[in-house]
Amino acid sequence: MKTCTISFPDSPHAPATFPEGANLSENLTILNSPMLFGCRAGICGTCLIQVEEGYDSLTPPTPDEYEALDVYAPGNAKARLGCQVRLTGDAAIKKIRSA
Ligand code: FES
Repeated sequence: MKTCTISFPDSPHAPATFPEGANLSENLTILNSPMLFGCRAGICGTCLIQVEEGYDSLTPPTPDEYEALDVYAPGNAKARLGCQVRLTGDAAIKKIRSA
């Protein structure tokens, strides 16, 4: 089974490795991630992140996620909602605040 590693630059949290296709919100916890989750449904923006490396290693945003990103991070082409992301390869992410 292929595994994917998610890392957190500028954070004390160690990289975490999950099976390909893993959903971040189902696998990251307060202990292994600098990001927090709220609704886990793509609505609240609590899990807003910026993808520093490996943007193409994440499943692409849905139209609903694009709509939310226009509100929470307008103009930021690297922004994603962590709760909507599944890994297809290695990536590095940073928690950011909404605009
Ligand atoms: S946890 Fe609410 S949008 Fe991701």
